Amino acid sequence: MRLDKFICDCTGLTRSQAGKAIRQKLVTINGELVKQAALQVTPSDQVMLDGEQLQLIGLRYFMLHKPAGYICANDDPDHPTVFTLLDEPLVERLHTVGRLDMDTTGILLLTDDGQWSHRISSPKHHVAKTYRVWTADAITPDAISLFAEGVMLRGEKDPTKTAELEIIGEHEALLTIHEGRYHQVKRMFAAIGNKVEQLHREKIGGLQLPADLAEGEYRQLTAAELALLKG
Ligand code: URA
Repeated sequence: MRLDKFICDCTGLTRSQAGKAIRQKLVTINGELVKQAALQVTPSDQVMLDGEQLQLIGLRYFMLHKPAGYICANDDPDHPTVFTLLDEPLVERLHTVGRLDMDTTGILLLTDDGQWSHRISSPKHHVAKTYRVWTADAITPDAISLFAEGVMLRGEKDPTKTAELEIIGEHEALLTIHEGRYHQVKRMFAAIGNKVEQLHREKIGGLQLPADLAEGEYRQLTAAELALLKG
């Protein structure tokens, strides 16, 4: 890889900023000052920028226990974003895998691997998502068959795909859906005349939000967890 591209990939600098640093004699390879941006860097080379060793950041996969009050967007003028909860270099390269509403809590995946996130969030791959739902009105047993058959959401042409509802209490249920339409869970309950008061995502595919990951905390996914998401 070219030296200037290597510097950009490691630091987030632009090509022209990387070129400038090279011209300013801030860059060494294996202890030797270098002047050419086009020089090839190999994995065993030790590249230093202004006295700091540069290292390529590989693809990253995180899970966050999203608290209420945070927004799944890169920036927002009025609310903190979920990215403010991450203490990572080049955080601007990360994106969320799908979105949770600002008031929804629970498991949220973040990555800089666009292909991976597309596979998990694309309806074609049917990755199930399970939500714990608390409602304003009592959940009646007929909701189970209505959601299994699919309901019409306001303003949409096609009914929702089959979804599994497990009633836990009068106002509490687990709902597993296999697609990710805008405000889907809230709109599904609205479609049967109820209202979601609180929403928490517990599971994505085979991956459960771990009990020891407190609200606002995040960590890297393990190899075993990544394998679970492959299905
Ligand atoms: N469905 C919703 O309505 N909101 C969410 O945050 C996630 C799914």
